[in-house]
Amino acid sequence: MGYVATTVNAGVLGTGHSYPQGILTNADLEKMVDTSDEWITTRTGIKQRRKAAPEEYTSLFAVRAAREAIERARIDPAEIDLLLCATVTPDQILPSTGCLIQAELGAHNAAAMDIVAACSGFLYGLAMAGAMIRTGQARYVLVIGAEILTRYVDYTDRSTCVLFGDGAGAAVLGPVEGHRGILAARIRSDGRYEEQLYAPGGGTKGGFSAETIARGDHFFKMKGNELFKVAVRCMTDISREVLAEAGLSSGDVDLFIPHQANQRITDAVVAKLNMDSSRVYSNISMHGNTSSASIPIALDECVEAGRVHEGDIIVMASFGGGVTWGGVVMRW
Ligand code: ACO
Repeated sequence: MGYVATTVNAGVLGTGHSYPQGILTNADLEKMVDTSDEWITTRTGIKQRRKAAPEEYTSLFAVRAAREAIERARIDPAEIDLLLCATVTPDQILPSTGCLIQAELGAHNAAAMDIVAACSGFLYGLAMAGAMIRTGQARYVLVIGAEILTRYVDYTDRSTCVLFGDGAGAAVLGPVEGHRGILAARIRSDGRYEEQLYAPGGGTKGGFSAETIARGDHFFKMKGNELFKVAVRCMTDISREVLAEAGLSSGDVDLFIPHQANQRITDAVVAKLNMDSSRVYSNISMHGNTSSASIPIALDECVEAGRVHEGDIIVMASFGGGVTWGGVVMRW
């Protein structure tokens, strides 16, 4: 059974993004660990990433991105029924970053919560927003992806510290007429791959103490090489699945926005999908991997650059720690 519109479909009404002013370049990293601009560029495509200042926190950028999206959607924050904040780097354990954002925005009629699905969080949010709108349980849903990953990066570990950056992106979804909006959405996870990307410290299992912090248990640990292969397979398969569900093929795609993790992952997925590379968006050189913020930042950059037109078929695909993955096809 496809995700074909019944009476009403869910589409994007407005987008926004925001990131810190601070920039960490490959040259900066060369001074911190045994790496080189040449290695980082050829292995990942990354040239720089944004880095939040110590006094900055996740919801600060989430609220800025959300305000932009709400303004462009031309709705009042009080009209939002559901606020989903995808993040693995919340402001604090309790309450959710979603609730903190809700208060700042004045979205007092919304149910607010966080989605913890790493880099797939934004697509998890889009899938849930689509279902809630289509079934009439919500009219307007605000989906945000926001991260300050640089707080959880070990700047003595060259295999992870070159990859991650900070930022936030947001989209307001609401009912749209005609055969527009989300045409297909699928989300998946497989917890058996836990150890490919994880941060054991700070929770009830790993605990938190002066020792766990000194050991760096709260930092991201990653088996990059293994994750690379899973990422290529999952993103390729889910893109094919959602396209088939929407009755489309890769030749119909006007814009492909993959999760920005590594340019080589994007290139491998695009080659397997036999997609025209001129239809693929990449900002990895400027932002690195911003996890759940990666796709909404990219989407808003495409909107601002005039790369999306009414009727365009847009495919988004992601994978992340968990592992999690997801795919969404929409007609703009
Ligand atoms: N600078 C120089 N050398 C490095 C660096 C670095 N920054 N990092 C690793 N190396 C070295 C390794 O030590 C290794 O050296 P050795 O051969 O002497 O042992 C060599 O480079 C090759 O290492 P690999 O890990 O095999 O390199 P690879 O080509 O796989 O690239 C990378 C590593 C970039 C991490 C890649 O595997 C990747 O992008 N994987 C996916 C990771 C990812 O996307 N993670 C995010 C998931 S999304 C989320 O949930 C947040």
